[in-house]
Amino acid sequence: NLPEHVTLIEVGPRDGLQNEKNEIPTDVKIQFIKELKKAGFKEMELTSFVSPKWVPQLKDALDIIQYCTDENRNLVLTPNEKGVMRAKEAKCRDIAFFVGVSESFNLKNINSTTKESMNKLLPLIRELKADGFFVRACISTAFYCPYDGKIHPDAVLNICQQFADAGVDDLSVADTIGMANPLEVYELFSRLKAQFPDMLLTAHFHDTRGMALANIYAALQAGVDRFDTSAGGLGGCPFAPGATGNAATEDVLHMLKALNIETGIDMNQLLKAVEVIEPHLAGAIQSKQHQLNKQE
Ligand code: HMG
Ligand code: MG
Repeated sequence: NLPEHVTLIEVGPRDGLQNEKNEIPTDVKIQFIKELKKAGFKEMELTSFVSPKWVPQLKDALDIIQYCTDENRNLVLTPNEKGVMRAKEAKCRDIAFFVGVSESFNLKNINSTTKESMNKLLPLIRELKADGFFVRACISTAFYCPYDGKIHPDAVLNICQQFADAGVDDLSVADTIGMANPLEVYELFSRLKAQFPDMLLTAHFHDTRGMALANIYAALQAGVDRFDTSAGGLGGCPFAPGATGNAATEDVLHMLKALNIETGIDMNQLLKAVEVIEPHLAGAIQSKQHQLNKQE
């Protein structure tokens, strides 16, 4: 029994660009976002208020956010209190935090242990919820870590429970380095669905080994109806060796259409957005739908 409707959360402007070698001009990023919004996305990750020394590509976060004043869910990633302050100054209402289940990955990504991060983030989340913010928690290395190997599902459920107790609205659970298989995906998301039946639950797959579509299908079977995807299949975390692009939104959309699952996203307009960003990238876009579109 697959869901009839799926929400695609477009993460191209954030996850897609954070690892891009070329410096993308701010106005191109804004044009990319504009075209994506026209395609019908109601939830997007637009940028991150992280240290510009760590992720120089996103140093123009404020300029990006100031452009996005519509009523849709315009998410920004923040790693710490300073990020939350910057997001509040920019009048953001939708904030995403990120933590690695794996200690080694969390150290490389945000320079603190998972426990230290949780101790700092949970009170920030409670405050934001009391002030009416939408809060998403991104849980990285939920299957495998590039440093520590296989991650036990119990550890993922434990972190998710702490976020749930702090009141987050959405759990986005990620296969950061694209190593999960459909059996592992079905098992973990079935357990998450059972433990958090009333929470928004999102799956976030990187396609390093070409398994993202199969993993999305397995997550659909487990009842997941929200997926983070990236236009053009861009993406990857600079602090996770082996993390290549996310599941390409247009390829996921193609599969969902074939399964008669509604998303509200317009394929032609989405492919236009991909064409806006492609000339500015260091590499070519590999997604199947984009390739087919170019041949026409
Ligand atoms: P640190 O060096 O330990 O931080 O980095 P610090 O507190 O010592 O600060 C160092 C400098 O950064 C200071 O500036 C701070 O003011 C500044 P200086 O005094 O040297 O001029 N700073 C900031 N500036 C702007 N915004 C901030 C901020 N915080 C400090 N928020 C820190 C710690 C967390 C800052 C750093 O490690 C960092 O920014 N990490 C971000 C890494 C990142 O963005 N990773 C990618 C996103 S996660 C991801 O992609 C996974 C996901 O897609 C799911 C999946 O696939 O798994 C979500
Ligand atoms: Mg990611």
